[in-house]
Amino acid sequence: MSLIKKLRDFFSKPSARYSAGGLIAIGAIGALILWGGTSTMMSATSTTEFCISCHEINDNAYAEYQQTIHFQNSSGIKAECADCHIPHDFAGKIIRKIEASREIYGHLTGIIDTPEKYDAHRPAMAAKVWSEMHANDSANCRSCHINLEENVDLQYTWASNNHKRMATENLTCIDCHQGIAHKLPNTSRMSKSIPPVNP
Ligand code: HEC
Ligand code: HEC
Ligand code: HEC
Ligand code: HEC
Repeated sequence: MSLIKKLRDFFSKPSARYSAGGLIAIGAIGALILWGGTSTMMSATSTTEFCISCHEINDNAYAEYQQTIHFQNSSGIKAECADCHIPHDFAGKIIRKIEASREIYGHLTGIIDTPEKYDAHRPAMAAKVWSEMHANDSANCRSCHINLEENVDLQYTWASNNHKRMATENLTCIDCHQGIAHKLPNTSRMSKSIPPVNP
């Protein structure tokens, strides 16, 4: 039987001829292909190149980040946009990607397409990032900065005194370490409070 005929038969014959197991197997293969496609799409849209295809404009997000320790430091570990901005778990990634359609809409409507517009919109954008990071206990920061709380005694006093506060006050990394990759918004709504010097 030629392959074409086999295929034609396969698609034209009633499904009752195929066992439930066979159909499930086909479904599973289809799901795997979809999954693979999704993963490829996820990686492609998580690269810094992809992000800066929009965020390079106007010398803001990308240019500012390039001046910071997360772009270049002696450890050689570079934090990419996605390391800080995209959840690391698969479900979180999917949700973030769907949510990012708002960014495409914003791009098309030119919401941040001049330096002035960007600065005007920065407080709202930053506030969104802060509240996300506060809500997930700065999960992205913690994927690199591990065991910070366990090791407070190895840190210098100013840092350790402040890091100990995480156990007792409802504080997480982003509540104190804002403006680590970009300029802080220029606004009275800025929520950064300068932590006290050693008591
Ligand atoms: C199609 C262009 C485009 C691409 C690609 C893009 N962004 Fe955006 N991004 C925007 C626009 C426009 C906004 C402002 C959206 C708004 O506030 O409505 C934005 C907002 C943001 C914000 C502010 C907070 C928020 O959720 O609105 C962050 C953080 C951000 N982008 C990070 C990224 C990262 C990381 C990538 C790469 C994974 C990326 N963007 C890719 C256009 C883009
Ligand atoms: C991809 C890994 C990675 C991620 C994600 C990451 N960091 Fe870092 N961070 C580093 C590295 C590497 C350094 C530089 C260490 C060095 O050279 O001493 C650093 C340095 C720092 C410093 C010291 C800054 C200074 O000026 O000395 C702070 C504070 C910090 N990170 C906070 C954060 C916070 C808050 C987040 C989440 C928003 C975060 N980091 C996310 C890897 C990361
Ligand atoms: C209550 C405020 C506060 C919180 C919450 C906080 N930090 Fe800090 N952190 C500080 C202060 C203050 C310093 C010392 C000043 C500095 O180095 O910037 C510091 C220092 C650091 C340093 C530099 C240490 C060094 O040896 O140079 C890193 C890295 C860091 N923090 C990461 C984090 C991470 C990751 C989290 C969340 C798990 C976090 N911090 C939570 C206030 C805080
Ligand atoms: C080390 C973590 C880190 C990295 C790496 C990082 N960001 Fe951010 N980003 C933040 C934080 C934290 C904020 C919230 C505002 C703040 O505190 O500066 C933010 C805010 C933003 C905003 C909102 C505007 C603003 O200035 O607040 C945009 C847009 C953005 N990031 C895009 C990017 C893009 C694009 C890249 C890669 C070129 C990138 N970020 C790399 C941590 C990071």
